[in-house]
Amino acid sequence: MNQHTNLPPIPFIDVAAQRRRLGSAIDSAIARVLAHCQFILGPEVRVLEGELARFCGARHAITCASGTDALLLVLMAKRIGPGDAVFCPAFTFCATAEVVALLGATPVFVDVEPDSFNIDATSLAAALPTAKRLGLTPKAVIPVDLFGLPADHDAITAVAASADLFILDDAAQAFGATYKGRPLGTFGHATATSFFPAKPLGCYGDGGAVFTDDDALAEAFVSLRVHGQGIDKYDNVRIGLTARLDTIQAAILSEKLKIFPEEIVTREEAARRYAQGLGDLAVVPKAPSGSISVWAQYTIRIGGGRRDKVAAALKTEGIPTAIYYPIPLHRQQAYRHYPVGEGGLAVSERLAAEVLSLPMHGYLDVATQARIIDAVRRALTR
Ligand SMILES: Cc1ncc(COP(=O)(O)O)c(C=O)c1O
Repeated sequence: MNQHTNLPPIPFIDVAAQRRRLGSAIDSAIARVLAHCQFILGPEVRVLEGELARFCGARHAITCASGTDALLLVLMAKRIGPGDAVFCPAFTFCATAEVVALLGATPVFVDVEPDSFNIDATSLAAALPTAKRLGLTPKAVIPVDLFGLPADHDAITAVAASADLFILDDAAQAFGATYKGRPLGTFGHATATSFFPAKPLGCYGDGGAVFTDDDALAEAFVSLRVHGQGIDKYDNVRIGLTARLDTIQAAILSEKLKIFPEEIVTREEAARRYAQGLGDLAVVPKAPSGSISVWAQYTIRIGGGRRDKVAAALKTEGIPTAIYYPIPLHRQQAYRHYPVGEGGLAVSERLAAEVLSLPMHGYLDVATQARIIDAVRRALTR
């Protein structure tokens, strides 16, 4: 126990601070939907899709019911199925590989880079012969922009092009980030994102979107999200899903998108303060050069088996932390029978033992953050 225990607990992600800022704007947006009652694919959905496409520069933005559905819609449109290998990082949220397995295809796990936490292009190249040796057809790769940090898209694109792989970027945590000056949503052949409430751009429930420049793919997504509809939903041209974004969520997201650029800046400022305050004691995350993270999480690395003790010490001071992810996918019960690319997954294993995410959001004020930094420094030097 110490003198800091009487201070109020700090939220890990302060969704309420943004709610207070937006206040009546969101209430009015919801009221407009309640007045016209077009709860499914109402006008706000089309408006939001235009805004999202303009925001990131993609030709098409198609909203859907979640980030998981966004990934699934893309793989379904590409007819990924049994016998196909889809390369996924082992260090990610389960949904990245789950959609592959759901379609009967085989996720092949690939290692990640220690600094960016993202898929390592060398490890991807090494996994190609693994898939072939197992009699699988290499079809696609799903790079993930984990914690908001852009993956090394140039290096991934080069390896993918050499093997004719389709690239589905899982930017569930990273909409709003830019890689070498270009916004995510425009890399690979399609990008999926999530609007889960805790995401940098989150709604007030589940939601997601798919981005592509490919007209035929965009048409397939629109069909697949409504039961594989053709000219209307009673004309079924393919097997699909119910995977639409609710009109109310679209109305909420349009209001949030207006302030999102400012929030990206305040997140970047908070990340800089963390790096300055902790960079000498812990391994702090780095966006690839020329890129801007949207800092869905601020995740430091604490080696030497000290991570859990540091987390426990912070908890006693009212400072929440989280471990994303304690078990890499290739060690999860549901995924451990899937193949691992040549070269193994040593970095994924190490990260699972070392990562610790600190409170991060666009409303983290300097005083609160100083309290967190002081507490982390105390815990690390104890
Ligand atoms: C990397 C990644 N992919 C996919 C998803 C799935 O998004 P959703 O929860 O909206 O289905 C998430 C959600 O946390 C994620 O972090």
